[in-house]
Amino acid sequence: MNFMTFQQNLIGWFRLNQRPLPWRRHNKPYEVWVSEIMLQQTQMETVLPYYDRWMKAFPSLEALARADSKRVLKLWEGLGYYSRARNLHESAKTILRSHGGIFPDDHEKIRAIKGVGRYTAGAIASIAFNQDKPIVDGNILRVLSRVYAISKPIDVEKNKELFWKLQEDLIPKGNAREFNQALMELGALVCSSQNPACALCPIRRFCKAFKNKNPEDYPVRSRKKEMVK
Ligand code: ADE
Repeated sequence: MNFMTFQQNLIGWFRLNQRPLPWRRHNKPYEVWVSEIMLQQTQMETVLPYYDRWMKAFPSLEALARADSKRVLKLWEGLGYYSRARNLHESAKTILRSHGGIFPDDHEKIRAIKGVGRYTAGAIASIAFNQDKPIVDGNILRVLSRVYAISKPIDVEKNKELFWKLQEDLIPKGNAREFNQALMELGALVCSSQNPACALCPIRRFCKAFKNKNPEDYPVRSRKKEMVK
């Protein structure tokens, strides 16, 4: 695999085809954080109107920190998993108190924020601060399992480490912001679970599953996936 061509093809595609998501305008840590928390358990199209209302009500971390709890929860109504809203509010207050309202750029400190796990910490570090930190979400698991034709089941926890290592090795130094989002965007727009649009894929020449004509066989799961509804 020629990493540089892989990265260039993917980033070139991303520049032309990315969705104009509101938090992508400025890559501000507060905006990236809120968007990633909303997207943790909720689909993009559901999140977008909530995100807009939220930013109108609480345009900055300080505004959120000073907001009334009832108003915060009211704006979350319908999104579910309300602990996410409570964690955002509580963490905004903590960051205002302990970091003077400046969102921390230190990876350990980001990881220590309530509600921020390994994926979300990597997303904030790479998207908001352009640090070379890996991220692995459902989209990236699917893309990488196909590119490398990985037959180890992704629902076995110990197998996940392989994906974190592969993702980290792929990051072009100094451009994790674009690269990480590009890999997720490819999973969302082209490398879909069913009927992936391989004809439109900028990295199909590097993809083992495309070569073997079986992208839909990946990612492999040890248990049958529960059907939604
Ligand atoms: N899903 C979660 N975070 C995302 C992001 N930053 N871009 C695209 N899809 C996402």
